[in-house]
Amino acid sequence: MDLNDQNEWWRHSVCYQVYVRSFADADGDGIGDLPGITSRLPYLRELGVDSLWITPFYTSPQNDHGYDVADYRDVDPLFGTLGDADELLARAHDLGLRVIVDLVPNHTSDRHEWFQAALAAGPGSKERERYVFRDSTDGNPPNNWQSVFGGPAWTRVEAGPGERAQWYLHLFDSTQPDLNWRNPEVGDMFEDVLTFWLDRGVDGFRVDVAHGLFKVEDLRDQLLEEGATPDSVPANSTGSPASSPASSMVERTMRDEPMWDQPEVHDVYRRWHDVLAKYDGDRILVAEAWTQTPESMANFVRGDEMQQAFNFSWLLADWSAEAFAEVITGTFAALEAVGASPTWVLSNHDVVRHPTRYGGGAQGLARARAATLTMLGLPGSSYLYEGEELGLEQVDVAAEHREDPSWFRTGEPGRDGCRVPLPWAGDHPPYGFGPGTGQPWIPQPTDWAPLTVEAQAADPGSTLSFYKRALAARRDQADTGEHIEMLELGTDVLAFRRGPLTVVLNCGSEAVPLPAGEVVVASGPVTDTLPGDTAVWLR
Ligand code: BGC
Repeated sequence: MDLNDQNEWWRHSVCYQVYVRSFADADGDGIGDLPGITSRLPYLRELGVDSLWITPFYTSPQNDHGYDVADYRDVDPLFGTLGDADELLARAHDLGLRVIVDLVPNHTSDRHEWFQAALAAGPGSKERERYVFRDSTDGNPPNNWQSVFGGPAWTRVEAGPGERAQWYLHLFDSTQPDLNWRNPEVGDMFEDVLTFWLDRGVDGFRVDVAHGLFKVEDLRDQLLEEGATPDSVPANSTGSPASSPASSMVERTMRDEPMWDQPEVHDVYRRWHDVLAKYDGDRILVAEAWTQTPESMANFVRGDEMQQAFNFSWLLADWSAEAFAEVITGTFAALEAVGASPTWVLSNHDVVRHPTRYGGGAQGLARARAATLTMLGLPGSSYLYEGEELGLEQVDVAAEHREDPSWFRTGEPGRDGCRVPLPWAGDHPPYGFGPGTGQPWIPQPTDWAPLTVEAQAADPGSTLSFYKRALAARRDQADTGEHIEMLELGTDVLAFRRGPLTVVLNCGSEAVPLPAGEVVVASGPVTDTLPGDTAVWLR
């Protein structure tokens, strides 16, 4: 890819998500780091992706593994130095890979200097105005909101002598106080943060909890259906789909959400759009916005706001041709209105890995490969999550090794099972993850030897070899156009034509006849029929 290409490269890129703690460990402490990523960039080049998104590596106490930022303008020593970040960017660009970093604007860490100052300054101070502090006279939290990670979204702070006690809002963990975006100081601070990283050469930002930031101004109670208590409302945002994709869009459409998706948030993204536009290289913003409908997602990608938003409806859809077709047509319909192009994603660091979601074992893997190939055939940009190219499944992490804050707040297993460090080589842990000899921060299963990059690279039938073939085919077919025509080939079959390409996915268990054409790439063995749980591209 030509990095000087200003021409909306992101509309068709394949972006690989690096979960920094779990990708590659250079210093041997059992936790991934920036030099580890740099050392593995040639692997990503060879895999055939165009860009990478790196989860937060800034100074952080790691209560939510970096999504609790104490200093937005520095690298946590656990992951390296600013010099290591510069080196990573330079090497990636040398290899033609663009780099997107994570931005966490909804909340800071409670260790951030602003929050520490707010605690010290007391009620009524301008320091407390940077967060959402409220009084409560009856000893209860100021409203009925629940944290995404379980329990009340408010924590009471100790009052100093003669002070009134206050509560602060945290839609996530109590160590992640929400910022007050109605205070202009907050917006100014984030503009500086954007500039800091743009000046260092990042190609864009993945914006965490982009639908948060503003809450309804009077912080009124969430309206609940009769008989429901706030506790019985399923957690709705980014934390929850780990145990179940429970936040199905349908369920959420029914709910009152005074804490999410307020109209004021769009002014923030218009301002950021203008900040990015001053830089060369077509830099981007991509929203992580768990909105209730495709239409409200489309609002984030209007021409003067963000370039992309994650389209979680593909990931939340059941294994069914009908469900996938609905997602595809709904997505195109919503985005057409604003002239944006779609994104597709099947796995990330917050959800159960897709082979496991599709039932696990050989069938889960066959379905996962088929869903991936179908996704890669769609116009738009695709996001891959580290380890999916190895066919990794969700790991059942033993309770004593779980670190997800939602586990501590709810007793539910949480998201650690999709964050197990990658196996690179060898026949025992840490499988080349780092130079150490013991288990990494989350222990790897002892039966992962056949899944290492080294083992799979040598096997043309492996999932890794399949991903390389699929990504190479995608590059070859890059000229196939932005429009698709849905085809009717049977109830269990999803099929569409995109220029000269026909993509067919068989979600059923019986083989179906293949339309005419030469096989470009397939997710599993095909003959003149397409077996169940298999996808193919024909030309
Ligand atoms: C991230 C999660 C994180 C949460 C709070 C989400 O969008 O993807 O991993 O726990 O935001 O920052």
